[in-house]
Amino acid sequence: MVNEHPVLENQVLLGDCSQLLSTLPKTFFQAIITSPPYFGHRQYSDDAPLNEIGRETHLDDYLQRLLRVFALAQTVLRDDGLLWLNLGDTYRDKHLLGVPWRVALALQDQGWILRSDIIWHKPNAMPSSVRTRPTTDHEYIFMFSKSENYYYDADAIREPHVTFTGQSRMKGGRKHLGVRNSTPEAGKNGSNSNLHNGRWDQAFHPKGRNKRTVWSIPLGKFRGAHFAVYPEKLVEPCLLASTKQGDYVLDPFAGSGTTGVVALKHQRYFTGIELVKKYQVMAQLRLDELVAQPNLF
Ligand SMILES: C[S@@+](CC[C@H](N)C(=O)[O-])C[C@H]1O[C@@H](n2cnc3c(N)ncnc32)[C@H](O)[C@@H]1O
Repeated sequence: MVNEHPVLENQVLLGDCSQLLSTLPKTFFQAIITSPPYFGHRQYSDDAPLNEIGRETHLDDYLQRLLRVFALAQTVLRDDGLLWLNLGDTYRDKHLLGVPWRVALALQDQGWILRSDIIWHKPNAMPSSVRTRPTTDHEYIFMFSKSENYYYDADAIREPHVTFTGQSRMKGGRKHLGVRNSTPEAGKNGSNSNLHNGRWDQAFHPKGRNKRTVWSIPLGKFRGAHFAVYPEKLVEPCLLASTKQGDYVLDPFAGSGTTGVVALKHQRYFTGIELVKKYQVMAQLRLDELVAQPNLF
């Protein structure tokens, strides 16, 4: 493969993304997959918080800083590229602030096209001691495009049909169950039809149903080293739907480098930005280990 931008390939740049993004090539990355610090959750650096996002006293300042970052991010994304943004919410004095949606709506105003809001359900979320409201076990992933026409490979992330499986409460169409080599479509077509023309084989894509918007994915194992690592399984569908092998992927809040690890495992090139030195070193190390593997690309 031709080494188009050797300086960027599989590198995690050290610094503030609200500055470094303006040094990256324009309309270059096919996808941005990222999780910025959540508002008021934690300090990542050990010393003075540098230009760390998320430590602002006022929500408006946090929103303004994220808006600046994503305005710059828009300039480095290809016109047919996608941005996947993972965010969780924050309580202040018992009030749920609705931060993810405030950010999403502000990005809409900035010109991004909001194409999907995905719930990341965490089946192994930490138990909490709250007694006056339900325990939160989800975060958001927003999928934004830069223009109306963008690259999206629905087939790469299809999921199994459930309509006529044993889990389904729908009547009929289960005749395939227990029949060797049979399919839900065959089972349904052989019985009374709920569809007007009875062509369930056309209603059911052979590779599975289109990806849904609630993703149930446990928190991963690589959590000791960095506070807020998201699971590789969360990055995977975003990456596979929005890029091809050899494409360039960016994470301006790289943390421990999870986006990069998934990108490299799937033969995409990765560029990260991370403000805190110890995490930049950690992320770079993880990428270097993968790059050193023979036949990765
Ligand atoms: C939620 S964590 C990302 C974790 C990452 N997704 C992973 O799986 O490891 C957010 C990261 O953004 C970094 N960060 C905070 N402000 C930043 C800034 N202005 N520029 C670049 N990185 C920043 C933090 O140090 C932290 O590592």
